[in-house]
Parts: sequence; C-alpha cells; structure tokens
Amino acid sequence: MPIVTSTELFKKAYDGGYAIGAFNINNMEIVQAITEAAAELKSPVILQASQGARKYANSVYLVKLVEAAAELHPELPIVLHLDHGADFATCKDCVDNGFTSVMIDYSSHDFEANVEESRKVAEYAHERGAVVEAELGTLAGIEDAVSVDADKAMFTDPDQVEEFVNRTGVDSLAIAIGTSHGAYKFKPGTDPKLRLDILAEVSRRLPGFPIVLHGSSSVPQEYVRIINENGGALKDAIGIPEDQLREAAKGAVCKINIDSDLRLGLTAGVRQHFAEHPDHFDPRQYLTDGRKNVKDIVAHKITAVLGSDNKI
Ligand code: G3H
Ligand code: 13P
Ligand code: ZN
Repeated sequence: MPIVTSTELFKKAYDGGYAIGAFNINNMEIVQAITEAAAELKSPVILQASQGARKYANSVYLVKLVEAAAELHPELPIVLHLDHGADFATCKDCVDNGFTSVMIDYSSHDFEANVEESRKVAEYAHERGAVVEAELGTLAGIEDAVSVDADKAMFTDPDQVEEFVNRTGVDSLAIAIGTSHGAYKFKPGTDPKLRLDILAEVSRRLPGFPIVLHGSSSVPQEYVRIINENGGALKDAIGIPEDQLREAAKGAVCKINIDSDLRLGLTAGVRQHFAEHPDHFDPRQYLTDGRKNVKDIVAHKITAVLGSDNKI
C-alpha cells in the first residue's frame, strides 16, 4: 500500500473508540520492529520522524526506509509524519519530499503567531494532499530544543480550541493534559494523573475532531530494571499509566505518540546482550535483541493501550 494520510484512519479510530500509535523512527531496526508488529496485528500505524531524527539519519534515508516497509507490507496503512516541525520551512520540506503528514509545533509562541504559522502550513500541505497536526498548550519537559520548566506547564485552554481549529484549518490538534516528553514524567511518590476532564471539554467543543497526545510513554519498569541491572543508571524514571491512555483512546484521542519506551526497549536489549555476551562485537547480534524488544513493546501498545489491532 502506498504511504497514506491519517484522514480515514482517524475517522475510523474516532468512531471505533481506539487510537493509532505514532512511533518515532531513527534507524532501520526501529522501522522494521514497528511495522512487523503492526502488520502481524493488522493495525494501522504512524511512523514519525523528529527534526533530530532527520538530522541523525538524513531524512532521505528515513523516507526510503518507510517506503521499503510499505513495499514489504502491502496491506499495512502507514502514515509518514513529521514530529514537532519547528517552522513552515521544515514542514514544506517534508511535504515536498514524501511525508503525508506534518506537525507544525508553534505551541511555544503566542496564540496569534501559532494560528498564523499553522494556517500557512495547513494551506500549503492541503494543496499537496498532506495533512497537518498543530499544538495548543505546553507540555512540561523537553520538546525537541525547547525546554519548559515543569512548574510552568500550561494545560490546553478549552476556550481557545474552536477558534484555533477554525482559523488554521488543521486536521488534528495536540493538547496538553499532563503528559510530557522523556522518561522522567512525574516525581517519585506522586500519583500520575492526566487531566481527562480537559480532554472531555476539548472534545465537547470539537465534536468528531481528532485529538493527539504527545509524551505518552509509560516507561515500562521491567526495561528500566534490565537497563539498571546491566550497567545503566536511570533513576526514578516514571511514565503515564497505561489505563489512563486507554481511557483517552476510547474517546477523541486518535493519535498517541510513543518514543521513549522504544528507546528503553532497544537499550535494554543491547545492554543485556553485552552483559551476556561480552565477547560479541557484531552489531547484527546485539541489534537483533534491541529490535526484538521494540517489536514486543509496539505489539503490547497496539493490543493493551491503543486498541488498534484487527482494524485493517
Ligand atoms: O518529542 C520528542 C520525540 O521523542 C523526539 O525526540 O527530538 O530527541 O528525536 P528527539
Ligand atoms: P515520549 O517521550 O513520552 O515517548 O513522547 C514522544 C513524543 O511525544 C514524540 O512526539
Ligand atoms: Zn512530542
């Protein structure tokens, strides 16, 4: 199947009470792991590349890797998405070079600037058959290059969402309801809670409109343990409880972003491999174990969190 946009996938996900996983890609093994799990479970999937990923791998490689996956899994609907595009120029470059979906992330700018840049990107992308995600509100933590102090985290203001969507014409909206990027989302001893009340109010104001959650890794403790038992030092890594994401996926949330969990799985596989085989130095050996963990994690997300299995 050619690489598709998310329009039809989101419609079905909204009506069906599930969400599509948006998994970050940086290299071949990660693309393989995600698409193999999705194909086996008959789940549509979004492969997303951040600006950091495009710089690390070179965007041309990433596009070709995703095209290869699409060729190898002809039945699998795959969206190729730009994650956290910083400006119009970055989004334009992706639309011009094979991405079917782009995120313009002007959420750290003021409302009017966010409206204007998002509107410009939507106009350009729509003329070329691509779709656009924008963001309103600020996630605590690190958003690519932008660091936001957790205490100043701003939840999305439901009073702004209708005006924002109407004026920009974007196709989906990322909102801030307590998720954040990375593996350290909550302080130890606190009770991790998403503001599902804000999500409910946003969906009431935007009936049928696809909502996106960033920063949705759950930081599986088994992988943190494997990393720490094999030379790692990840202290107090805490993620979003899976049952709260499942709840969100049953409603208006159609896209859930996961990156950190894949990084943890890959790292755990590689560290464990080296601990058990200190004599190995062939990347195919240790990356096979890293890739296997990524595939297992994606399969778990699809069945236990997203509910997107058997939807093709
Ligand atoms: O939203 C952040 C993603 O996890 C991408 O992170 O900018 O380090 O590639 P990155
Ligand atoms: P995590 O760091 O929680 O995996 O979030 C990833 C993300 O939001 C990518 O845009
Ligand atoms: Zn994000």
